[in-house]
Amino acid sequence: MLDLQRQYEQIRADVLAAVGRVCASQHYILGPEVEALEGEVADFCGAGDAVGCASGTDALWLALAAAGVQPGDQVLTTPFSFFASASAIVRAGARPVFADIDPRTFNLDPAQVECFLRGGQHGKLRALLPVHLYGQCVDMDWLQRLADEFHLSVIEDAAQAIGARLGGERSKARGAGSMGVSAAFSFYPTKNLSAYGEAGLVTTSDPAMAAHMRLLRNHGSSRRYVHEELGWNSRLDAMQAAILRVKLKYVKGWNDARRERAARYDQLFAAAGLASAAGEPAAERTENAAPIQLPSTSAHAHHVFHQYVVRAYRRDELREFLTARKIGTEIYYPIPLHLQPCFVYLGYREGDFPEAERAAKEVLALPMFPELTEEEQRWVVKSIADFYC
Ligand SMILES: Cc1ncc(COP(=O)(O)O)c(C=O)c1O
Repeated sequence: MLDLQRQYEQIRADVLAAVGRVCASQHYILGPEVEALEGEVADFCGAGDAVGCASGTDALWLALAAAGVQPGDQVLTTPFSFFASASAIVRAGARPVFADIDPRTFNLDPAQVECFLRGGQHGKLRALLPVHLYGQCVDMDWLQRLADEFHLSVIEDAAQAIGARLGGERSKARGAGSMGVSAAFSFYPTKNLSAYGEAGLVTTSDPAMAAHMRLLRNHGSSRRYVHEELGWNSRLDAMQAAILRVKLKYVKGWNDARRERAARYDQLFAAAGLASAAGEPAAERTENAAPIQLPSTSAHAHHVFHQYVVRAYRRDELREFLTARKIGTEIYYPIPLHLQPCFVYLGYREGDFPEAERAAKEVLALPMFPELTEEEQRWVVKSIADFYC
């Protein structure tokens, strides 16, 4: 699925120099490296400021808390994401509510959000938490119009989307992390920009929110042993920040390489006669239909392919076949959030979000990273062809 060793070989000297710099400074928590990283990531994303923290999960919690989400509130998100998109809402004291996804992009469907809002059950709703899944931005213009009308904050879960953009021919492109009141990023080792451990960050252009998050990540304290409110220890360490600063310089090039590899997969699948055209509405799978549906990119989206995810006929058998050939694949995500055992108390049932549930049964992420070779991609597609033939 992912070979980080190849990336390390390219940047080894710079990474070791950065680690050496931190050791020489003997400054390990927050401090100048973290402040420099915050400024550089804010610039990269087109946001006014950024606040480093211990993980993407903490970044979501900080963003929600600083947006004023509190017990009794509801926050609407997608049922098809990593667990933290919903668990952070609970940790902020609120209740997650869900709307179904767009089957083409796998992202929260603004039409479904609109249905929920116009259905009149939004009295306690405080915020929208769209997730830019797999590296593709949600249709933020539509969501923002709804948020303005219903007085909601929009917090982006940009954990998988550093460097992704939205923009039409006439409108200026906007980066993931610059569109909501704040946005949460994860630097988990598998991400497009990844640390050598756990790390996360929130971008925002609201100085008061940034100041509040700096307080919250440090036990709610701006002066030693004085705690203005209840916070947490979610400080980013200098070693991770220094390594991330090295890697940030490469992210644009790495994202471009991911996009090239995605285009190559598309071509290889089409040439093998395995795939229905990208963006075609998913049909009921039959023996005669194309067995693979390619990922679809919305008009005006600059997709950074954190993952290359297809829908596959007989997905689980295909996965076993590929595993036997030592080809790594993953299922992101096999259980939609509304059906997670810990969320039974929310009262959702199977059938409530049919597109999220169908995606959970059909999606398969194929090997995707900037150093993936053409030969390896050909082997993946040839193996999939062998399975269906
Ligand atoms: C969409 C999404 N949100 C949040 C997170 C949480 O990030 P972390 O693992 O850094 O806590 C992740 C990480 O996997 C993610 O993919």
